[in-house]
Amino acid sequence: MSAPAREPQVIRTSAEMTAWSRAARARGERIAFVPTMGALHSGHVALLEEGRRRGDKLVLSIFVNPTQFGPNEDLARYPRDLPGDLAKAAGAGTDVAFVPEPIDIYPPGFQTTIEVRELARGLDGLFRPGHFGGVATVVAKLFNIVQPDVAIFGQKDFQQLAIVRRLVADLAMGIEIVGLPTVREPDGLAMSSRNAYLSPAERTRALSLSRALFAARDRAAAGERDGRALVDGARVALDVDRIDYLELCDAATLTTLVQIDRPAVLLVAVFVGRTRLIDNIQIGA
Ligand code: PAJ
Repeated sequence: MSAPAREPQVIRTSAEMTAWSRAARARGERIAFVPTMGALHSGHVALLEEGRRRGDKLVLSIFVNPTQFGPNEDLARYPRDLPGDLAKAAGAGTDVAFVPEPIDIYPPGFQTTIEVRELARGLDGLFRPGHFGGVATVVAKLFNIVQPDVAIFGQKDFQQLAIVRRLVADLAMGIEIVGLPTVREPDGLAMSSRNAYLSPAERTRALSLSRALFAARDRAAAGERDGRALVDGARVALDVDRIDYLELCDAATLTTLVQIDRPAVLLVAVFVGRTRLIDNIQIGA
């Protein structure tokens, strides 16, 4: 048996985090960064493992960012498990866990927001007003604090990944952004910290998301080009309580597609009981 992996160093203030990063960079080390809201699962761990491969040093952030939650969303009950997270981070070879307090990220007087316009308009941008402003702003701030060379995100949050890429390019941040495929449970359910909210019966119904998406991808692979047919087929396969959106989009611009004539992505957001779930699948590379 190998020795247990060493726990990451926990850094709790942005000043110390930046000082640590400056020292690492001065030594010529390449910093890989994985921002998260904690309650880590195998999807997060896959990002950390990729970061481990791509950097000399690996930094994880755990920050449940209040500004990306709407007033009726799950900020107060968002799952938190720092000891469990540190153990998983250790297993993936994480050097530092940056765990700031909200007052550090949003001190009194804070008043700047970053808006990524078109990409944040539809899909989750419509159903979660203010969400992507909160995401873009905190990601930019975390990038400034951690000063990474490369940052790793999941395609699970496809629109978020597109927005982060745009943000980094538009503001010339000079950070390489890597997007990794969605990690799923063996039965297809996309891993999510929010899956913890699901009752066993709800979890079974949540499986209809990945089933519907896989079926649409298979139909497209078999030659179906009609976007409406693919979306309608997926809609009837969903066993959920409410559909926020089910939309076929251009994978680059996230504008609606009626015909599969370029790389596409089918994105879905639903409620199963009180739990909001998102998933997506890329169609036609
Ligand atoms: P969080 O939901 O914790 O996700 C952190 C990262 O893990 C994101 O890049 C997300 O896409 C990725 N991820 C989540 N589930 C995944 C899965 N099943 N497979 C692969 N990757 C997965 O996304 C956020 O936090 C926040 O918005 C954040 C970027 C940290 C800003 O607050």
